[in-house]
Amino acid sequence: MKVLGINALFHDPAAALVVDGVTVAALEEERLSRRKHGHRPVPFAAWELPEQAARWCLESAGLEPADLDAVAYSYDPSLAAPADQLGLDDPWDHLRQTYAARAPGFIASSLPGLDPGCVRFVPHHVAHAASAALAGPPRDTDVLVLDGRGECASHLAGHYADGSLKTLAAQRLPHSLGLLYEDVTEHLGFLRSSDEYKVMALASYGTAQFSDVMRRAITTSPDGGFRTEPVEWGALAKRRVGDDPWTQEHADLAASVQRRLEEVLLELVGWLHDRTGARHLALAGGVALNCVANSILHAESPYDEVWVQPAAGDAGTALGAALTVATDGGDHCLPMPGADLGRSWDDDELEDVLRSARLPYERPADVAQEVAACLAADGIVAWFQGRSEFGPRALGHRSLLAHPGRAENLERLNDVKGREQFRPVAPMVRVERAPAIFGRGPLPSPYMLFVHDVDREWRDRIPAVVHVDGTARVQTVDPRQEPLVARMLAAFEALTDLPVVVNTSLNTAGRPMVDSPRDALECFGSAPVDLLALGPFVVRRPSA
Ligand SMILES: [Fe+2]
Repeated sequence: MKVLGINALFHDPAAALVVDGVTVAALEEERLSRRKHGHRPVPFAAWELPEQAARWCLESAGLEPADLDAVAYSYDPSLAAPADQLGLDDPWDHLRQTYAARAPGFIASSLPGLDPGCVRFVPHHVAHAASAALAGPPRDTDVLVLDGRGECASHLAGHYADGSLKTLAAQRLPHSLGLLYEDVTEHLGFLRSSDEYKVMALASYGTAQFSDVMRRAITTSPDGGFRTEPVEWGALAKRRVGDDPWTQEHADLAASVQRRLEEVLLELVGWLHDRTGARHLALAGGVALNCVANSILHAESPYDEVWVQPAAGDAGTALGAALTVATDGGDHCLPMPGADLGRSWDDDELEDVLRSARLPYERPADVAQEVAACLAADGIVAWFQGRSEFGPRALGHRSLLAHPGRAENLERLNDVKGREQFRPVAPMVRVERAPAIFGRGPLPSPYMLFVHDVDREWRDRIPAVVHVDGTARVQTVDPRQEPLVARMLAAFEALTDLPVVVNTSLNTAGRPMVDSPRDALECFGSAPVDLLALGPFVVRRPSA
């Protein structure tokens, strides 16, 4: 079967293509439209489809819309209820439901030739669940989904056996861990439904002073779900507005919410494990991008292994919906081959872009060696290689790289990217070198979805990547999967004796990650980056 998955309704619109059970392409619309998160998660924007991403997915596989057997849309409007019945204050939600119900017509008009009758609605949390259980390692597994909201729930706990899902619990709205975390994100002066990871980073600077309040506000229930009561955030910490500096109180509030989230996750998976006795757990939904909580689940839950979908937010439901429809249609679906499911350009195309920009460039004998030398000399490198990543993490295809041994590089990179200085940057490390440096979290960790403790002896050697609490969000690099990145890391180690390089996403403030070579040139042209490695070519910043 040829199945196109579409996520559109809330945010992070994305498309994914599954052909005969193989995930061949997945791309977020933001990478093409250059609007971060595609659109805001408001009802007025719910009609916007990931048109460009969908067209690219088809083109990349040489397919026409009429060739598709099905389009899987990751929301089922027949399961929704009016917002007031769900206890949501969302007076325009009916617009969202109208758009969802009309999605087959909208999709057919943006993909001429498509039969609107081939559009299938997949329940939102089933799509999330499939993105974890069917795209992850092939095995029977428990699955936990937590996000802001789907049709009428914010959670799903279940078990996948032989590719089919048995749902064991689902928490109905308005109770939602995702929405509660969004509320505190907004109270702390960040953009809700976008900047939740900043709350997680800020939490490391605080202590969980308000744990008692949070334990009263969030309670688990005997049916495997939970209750979230409204919290009077202003009584705990003053609302932060605009560029107000954050205070200890803000960090303590972030720490308190984060701590309670971790406790509740452990209680929820404890309930699930009691019912199934499964050894494996798969996670998806926006809450699963909380890599600190993921590490707690890895370390303290009863499961042997925890796997997290790298596009755990709503973008991943495009893939999960497609995998669900393909499986229901009788296809045996293979795990996703990696997160590099987006666009790529061959060497001739990259050289054409450089020529037309009239930039001086070179083709060194080995770009990995050249980049390692620049990093060793404390340069900042924009690294553009192969297919772009699906999901929010740069994993060595669209990355900004730096020397980890200089503490000031954290500030330098945060300046390049216009980020708050409390935000950490992450290390990439060759998989075989990781256990000596990083403990506690799962290894290998190819998708940067867990935090690890940095060994005390290493903290002074790689200070740029060590967060205030002594942790780091590691990406391990396996030379069999990422030979070029592994070679660059090896070359850097030969020059510096450090097997680690700083890796953060290649973008500037408020922009989506670089996707095309032109995006890379724009980023290089506007930010203090010393070297751009575009495929096998390098462009150097002229010295001042
Ligand atoms: Fe979701």
